[in-house]
Amino acid sequence: MIVLASVVAACTGSTSGPTTTTEATTTIAQPPTTASPPTTASPPTTRPASPDETLTSIGDPFYPALGNGGYDVTRYDIELTLLDDGTIVGFTTVTAVATADLDRFSLDFGSTSATPDDQPTVDAVRVDGVDAGWDHDGEELVVTPPAALTAGASFVTEVEYSPVASAAESRALPVAVGWYEGPSGVRYVVAEPDGAHRWFPSNDHPSDKATFSISVTVPAGTIAAANGSLVDQIDDIGTTTFVWEEDDPMATYLATVVVSDRYAVVRDEAAWAATGIDVRHILPDDMADDPPIALDRTAEMIGVLSDLFGPYPFDEYGVAFVDGFGAALENQTLSLFDTELADAPILELVLIHELAHQWFGDSLTPRWWEDIWLNEGFATFAELLWIEHEGGETAYRDEIRRRIGQARSSGLGPPGSPSPSNLFAGGVYQRGALTLVALRDEVGDDVFFEILRAYTARYAYGNVTTADFVAVAEELSDRDLSVLFDTWLYDDQIPG
Ligand code: ARG
Ligand code: ZN
Repeated sequence: MIVLASVVAACTGSTSGPTTTTEATTTIAQPPTTASPPTTASPPTTRPASPDETLTSIGDPFYPALGNGGYDVTRYDIELTLLDDGTIVGFTTVTAVATADLDRFSLDFGSTSATPDDQPTVDAVRVDGVDAGWDHDGEELVVTPPAALTAGASFVTEVEYSPVASAAESRALPVAVGWYEGPSGVRYVVAEPDGAHRWFPSNDHPSDKATFSISVTVPAGTIAAANGSLVDQIDDIGTTTFVWEEDDPMATYLATVVVSDRYAVVRDEAAWAATGIDVRHILPDDMADDPPIALDRTAEMIGVLSDLFGPYPFDEYGVAFVDGFGAALENQTLSLFDTELADAPILELVLIHELAHQWFGDSLTPRWWEDIWLNEGFATFAELLWIEHEGGETAYRDEIRRRIGQARSSGLGPPGSPSPSNLFAGGVYQRGALTLVALRDEVGDDVFFEILRAYTARYAYGNVTTADFVAVAEELSDRDLSVLFDTWLYDDQIPG
């Protein structure tokens, strides 16, 4: 089936990223014919100058509407209630520090493409406990606090809203982002890259990470899972509230929730014993009785990748299987998988891919979306490392040859300069991984894996740019690697 075929394509060297239509993507994926001049540090973004621009933009040239200036979020407390009629109402508390004197500030919230019915209604906004003014237009919620905020001050914004809107088209790929509902009735969040602000008011940009509490009240008998640990479960008359806490910094796009009345939490006690990581999967009841066998290898996978990349960054891991998604996604501590992947031969490689993202993407998060190869190239490279773990160097080399051949014949574009309207193009994945293969060949195994471990240690829980990675690689190898990175990341043609 086409959706699953493209899921498989995303992770096995075909031409497209994880989109629903392979053909369309292949066409869009072509890089502009005028190549930008090679530069190792992909051009650091100039932030917008005028106060009006910084009000509603953090300055990402790919997606100027995402993120906002003037403050840094430290924490989100999201409270959702699933009503009997299926609507979800929301209450989000945003704790932030002002980075400038502010007489107003903006949160990303809602959608421009949504039909009016689908736009959440803001019912109340308070700043530091006092009613504030607000103007909700499209994707921006501009808040006027009762008193101006001073630079350096911490402030708390509460937003009450209803309903939580369903998913709407992403600006970065031809799929919807936000809340999904699968054929089985399972409801869940798919947000990467621009869907987080469809379900909670936020500074929706990866450069502003924060800790999260996600609390979901559901009818009794339904379960709700989210990132991190279940820290409380409160039974009331006819309802249960599940409180999940992610106490490591997380980008907004990695926040997720899975809600269903036909699901179970399956804890992998052996993985806990072996790794010290709380491994819990969120599975449909029938799958919980008979989980995919590849899931048994989770502890081994965590072990293999920790040896190569440095310690697993978080306290928990697990996957949730959902229907109606059509892909896989590395939400922090809780990756999301389409149920059709459960018995696909490719499952093992997709498990490795999403697990590797916990280091590359989740702990080390791109500062700007244009550096998405720092996520997808590295996660795709991890597939090659797993193939090597299983089949040795011959298997690794064979797979590389196969993928280079495919990348050439389908004309994949350079990983360092994707198009904003097709962020997850095949070249970002496959040519991104091949860039790391080239680096490994250039500096040798010892230095190469030192580079990876130094990079994950130095930038753990933070943000990264291509220039940061190149600097670590040059430092540890004591070489000028500008030609290698320039050609592999930015040339139209695949080198060699
Ligand atoms: N990061 C995902 C992966 O592992 C791709 C996400 C694409 N976005 C989406 N909304 N499907 O390949
Ligand atoms: Zn990926």
